[in-house]
Formats: sequence, structure tokens, C-alpha cells
Amino acid sequence: MDGSILKDPSNVGLSTTVHGWVKSVRLHKQIAFVEVADGSVSKGIQVVIETPELAQDLSTGCSIKIVGKVVKSMGKKQDVEIHAESVDCIGAANPKEYPLQKKRHSLEYLREIGHLRLRSNIIGSVLRLRDFAERGFSRFFADNEFLRVHTPILTSNDCEGGGETFNATTEKATLEEAENSFFGRKVNLTVSGQLHAEVAASAFPRVYTFGPVFRAEPSLTGRHLAEFWMLEAECAFITSLSQLMDVIEESIKSTTRYIQDMADADLALFSKWVYPELEKRLSSITTQKAYPRITYTEAIEILQKATPREPFEFAPKWGSGLQSEHEKYLSSEHFESPVFVTDYPIEVKPFYMLANPDGRTVACMDLLVPGPCELAGGSLREHSHDKLLARITDLGMEAESLDWYLDLRKFGTTPHGGFGIGFDRYIQMLTGLESIRDIIPFPRYYGRCQY
Ligand code: 4AD
Ligand code: MG
Repeated sequence: MDGSILKDPSNVGLSTTVHGWVKSVRLHKQIAFVEVADGSVSKGIQVVIETPELAQDLSTGCSIKIVGKVVKSMGKKQDVEIHAESVDCIGAANPKEYPLQKKRHSLEYLREIGHLRLRSNIIGSVLRLRDFAERGFSRFFADNEFLRVHTPILTSNDCEGGGETFNATTEKATLEEAENSFFGRKVNLTVSGQLHAEVAASAFPRVYTFGPVFRAEPSLTGRHLAEFWMLEAECAFITSLSQLMDVIEESIKSTTRYIQDMADADLALFSKWVYPELEKRLSSITTQKAYPRITYTEAIEILQKATPREPFEFAPKWGSGLQSEHEKYLSSEHFESPVFVTDYPIEVKPFYMLANPDGRTVACMDLLVPGPCELAGGSLREHSHDKLLARITDLGMEAESLDWYLDLRKFGTTPHGGFGIGFDRYIQMLTGLESIRDIIPFPRYYGRCQY
């Protein structure tokens, strides 16, 4: 048993052993109070030591082993606590050098000590939420008969066609082989698992993949990372965007409810310290019957009539995508809820999307949410071989390197579609944190790859 024994007050009277790290020590003449974090709960565990000499060597940051009994607490901050019978300091932490103290540190300061900040309450809660979110999405996809596939990280294609790939072409070690690269061709880190998920969806009707993706976008915003995690699903035999939007919406509602059940204390920490309006936001995510669905053309009309709190820097204009200020207005001011925007102009979207009969737009959608704005993007895919080849040629892309992808349209093609949810942005939405750099344990972004 560890600190999780404290979650159930009926465990009073039981013995337990806790391994963890000291958050604070209060030494009095007759008694000592030690707050210990062992990762099981968002707040530390209160340990009472009735022989204060036992706590003499302890200081913030040291690792310890406590053996003791679960006792009903007299204090207001916790229902139960541990009364220690033995205390072992396992690894000391010199108080003169240890950079974390009991007080609240700024998120910027915590980023500077990235190897220790996982011990802070806030980043600890973020990590627990990430874990529960992964479990929540896995449960949803398994319950809905999606097969999880493992798509590669090394790939020879650039799915989004944005040229924002990290090159992974390694030189061979020996001199004779020096003119050839390891793979004998250009290889990069994947920007999206979608094309490989489409391969899988030509053998299994419903698949999903979850993994890290990499983008060499020189963006320094609070919503962009160079390495982030994406959840991508692909469904064969579907013919309408609304089927895809239903899956996205249900997966988000179901996962968020699961997290509310499993990690309400972690969520409460964010409403208390980070974003007071969080409960309202969470309710717009989980209790709303259906997220609004509007077309891009309707979005432009709304934006052109809008009087935003801060005037737009870029005037909304049909044909030129949506700026983040426009996305923010739609999700945070106009609808104050997640909103799907569908059918964007063909010019602003990647090669694989299915063209609408109007010839000007594609059957795609973005989900915009309060907080990080764009949370998910998806589309129906062009499933006709000839039309896809024509589009690839029109865009001046190399058709040979996509022969395998075109083959899927030659042999038993199906109307199909899929989407990608930005996992880190999902957690950002649930916490109200301003910067995505505080959402991922080891942030990589333009100009920064520590460790
Ligand atoms: O909109 P994106 O680029 O879509 C795709 O990659 C598709 N191939 C997905 C698919 O259909 N299977 O990226 C999907 C989501 C975005 O909506 C956003 O939430 C997130 O990934 N995202 C980022 N998150 C953090 N940092 C970045 N640099 C991101 N770029 C995109
Ligand atoms: Mg997108």
C-alpha cells in the first residue's frame, strides 16, 4: 500500500508504507509535520511524527520511506493523515542548493528547472491528467470498436505538405559508404500518422493511432510545440463529415467525463490557481447537447459582422483561412463553447482532402475550442485514384513517392475519412494553462531542446 490508501477514509487504523519526496517539514518541540508527495494524490500527504528527532535530517526535496498508521486528521486541510512509526531519509537534498521550496513558484521559473518541476503540484497534476486522458481516449476507442495501430515515426513522406519536417537522414558510419545515407533516401520524422492510418483503414474499418509527431514550425506561441502528441482516427466506408464530427465530439465528452470522475482534485487545483472560469468551460464541453457546426462561409459572415473585444488585426476574408484571433473569437466570445467549422476553401488545405461538388471547398472540419483554439482537424479523403493523382500533379508534388498511397485507391478503395486531435492542446483546454510548454513534461520548441 502507498499514499493512495488515504483516498478512502475507511482505511483509518490500517498500517502503510509510503515512499516519496518531502515537500515541507515543520519541526516543533514535541511534534513534527512532514508533507510528502508520492504522486498518488494532487496534494501532499500529511505525516505526523511524534518523536521530532526522527525528522531532524529531513528537508524539502529529500526522498524518504515512512512506515506508519492511517489516522483521522485533526487538521482542516485533510481528512486523514499518517502517524509515523519509522522514518528513513533515503536520499538527502541540500537545502542550500535545492531549487524548489514550499512557496508557489512561477511557471516560468519551473520551466527553468524542468528536471525537477514534475514534483511541483501543478505539473504533477498535469501529468496525472495526461495519463487519465490517454486512458479515457483508449477506453472510448476500444468501446467503439476502433483498432489501435502503431504508425511509424520515421517516414519518407510529409503528410501535411507544409515542408515543416525534421530531417532524419543519417550518414553511414564508414568512409566508403559516406556518399549514401542510412536509408538511401530522404527520411524525416513524421508530422502526422494519417497516411499510415489510412493504410490500416484499408484492412480494418476503424483504426486509431496515438503517438508523438514532429513539426519544424518556427512558432513561439503558447499553442505550438515542435514535438507533440496526436490522437488520429480513420474510418473506412463513411460518406459524411457529420459521422466524423460525432466521433470527435463523443470521444471528447466521454474522456472529459472520465477525467472528471477520476481526477476531480487535479481539475479543482486548476480552477483554484490557474483559471477561475474552468468549471464553466468544462460544462460547455461535457453537458452541451451538441457542439455548434457551421461552415467556413458562415464563419466568415459571423466574423465580418463581429465586434470583438479586441479589434482584429487581420480582416476576415473568404479564401484566406482563419487567423488564430478569428478562431479565438468564434470559440471564446461568439459561441463560448467548442464549435466545428466545416468546408474550408480548397487552397488552404492539404492535397488528400475530398473536394466538394462546388469545386471551391473541401469536405473538412476544424474543431475550435475555448483556450487553445484549434483542437482537432479532419476530413473525408479523396478516394478516387484519378482525381487524387490529378490533384497531386496540379500541386506539383512527386507522385512516385506517393505510389503506395495511390495504390490504396486502386485496390478496393472505400469512401473514408479521419481526424487528428492535438492531445497536448486537449489538456491545455482542461487546465486553462496559457502555455503548452507547461503541458508536456519535456517541451521542445523553436530554439529549445533541453536534455
Ligand atoms: O490540423 P493538423 O495539422 O492535422 C493533421 O495533421 C491531420 N493529418 C490529422 C488527421 O486528419 N489525421 O493537426 C491536428 C491537430 C491540430 O488540430 C492541433 O490540435 C494539433 O494537432 N497541433 C499541434 N499541437 C501542438 N503543437 C503544434 N505545433 C501543433 N500543430 C498541430
Ligand atoms: Mg489543422
